[in-house]
Amino acid sequence: MKSAADAFVEFAQVGKSYDGHTLAVEDFNLRIPQGEFVTLLGPSGCGKTTCLKMLAGFEHPTAGEIFLKGQPVGQIRAHKRNIGVVFQQYALFPHMTVAENLAFPLQARRVPAQQVAASVARALDMVQLSDFADRLPGQMSGGQQQRAAIARALVFEPDIVLMDEPLGALDRRLREEMQYEIRRLQQRLGVTMLYVTHDQGEAMAMSDRVAVMSEGRIQQIASPEVLYEEPERVFVATFIGENNLLDGRVVEWDAASCRVDVGDGAGEPAIVQAFPVAVDGAGQPTKLAIRPERVALNPPTGSYSNVFDAKVLDMIFMGDHLRLHTEVLGRAPFIVKIPNIVGHGAVLPGDTVQLGWLVTDCRALDATGSASAYSAAPEQDRVPIATSTETAPARG
Ligand SMILES: Nc1ncnc2c1ncn2[C@@H]1O[C@H](COP(=O)(O)OP(=O)(O)OP(=O)(O)O)[C@@H](O)[C@H]1O
Ligand SMILES: [Mg+2]
Repeated sequence: MKSAADAFVEFAQVGKSYDGHTLAVEDFNLRIPQGEFVTLLGPSGCGKTTCLKMLAGFEHPTAGEIFLKGQPVGQIRAHKRNIGVVFQQYALFPHMTVAENLAFPLQARRVPAQQVAASVARALDMVQLSDFADRLPGQMSGGQQQRAAIARALVFEPDIVLMDEPLGALDRRLREEMQYEIRRLQQRLGVTMLYVTHDQGEAMAMSDRVAVMSEGRIQQIASPEVLYEEPERVFVATFIGENNLLDGRVVEWDAASCRVDVGDGAGEPAIVQAFPVAVDGAGQPTKLAIRPERVALNPPTGSYSNVFDAKVLDMIFMGDHLRLHTEVLGRAPFIVKIPNIVGHGAVLPGDTVQLGWLVTDCRALDATGSASAYSAAPEQDRVPIATSTETAPARG
């Protein structure tokens, strides 16, 4: 098997089984051009670390082949692979100072002593740890240790850096700072990056492209914008950001739009107009995905193809936006986000309102994805919840 010339790294139909029958990674295909920052994103156990370990040469694929600069990784001697790694569990050597830790990969590559000192100084400066050269890891904060580990992965000027949840142990504020720092360093050095996280915000903030994984496979790989705006599957639609999901059946279809009955089958049909992503004919079951922030509250007449009466069940004040739990088309909770801006038109629980959304903001996806009614926002993104009507802004 030969790798495509333009790919710096290529996974070609890679599979991995640890036990001979279950697949940790399955039919995994990924091409990374030089200098790109690609993130593997997915829930625990979906195979992210396994992919990284196979590229690093710590594990071997049981199917397919991995190429580095056009050569099968397995055929490149370990010390010639020139891969920097930061794994969460691979801490710094505790008995060595920071400078000694950084010197280690250089000495292992038989770099002359004088050059080692210069490279270590430069790498420490890069992560703003110049004053910490003589500290032992145990004498530094978690964030400083992780910065030192990143410097150690970069100090020998690797062709590619692999990072596996490097910020997992840090608190949120430090994590965000480090995300920015890693991205800035990667761009400045032009180094190719394969990064692993299960935090979608982190993946979105740092990456050129994100590969969303589930059960050993890539579900979709695209830029953060495309993943958010054009999810191709229910798994992606609910894993990246938040989506309301409505189960239905296609009653009319053409390539630009379809009509979907989301009624319960017993009463009158309830027709929603949607953009067909994963349906291509009448009669097919589908899940419609509608982002909470793309739902308009009491829209002007005639401005939206989809307009339905809804009941407000609850209103949660989130600071910069209001979060409405509504019941629409017999479904609850159907979430609506309204920006907290002047004239946003406040509502109260119990109110009857109209909700509207565009055909293009209503994506008809596969029917077989996640069964939950909608995907909840991560808890840490929430401010303390106040549901009483006292927190509702004055009506106007
Ligand atoms: N050494 C091993 N022996 C047997 N099974 C393994 C081994 N390492 C991983 N697995 C299994 O392979 C699957 C993928 O594991 P992997 O560590 O790649 O997941 P992950 O996406 O990195 O998860 P996490 O987010 O929890 O780190 C899991 O089902 C896991 O139990
Ligand atoms: Mg892992």
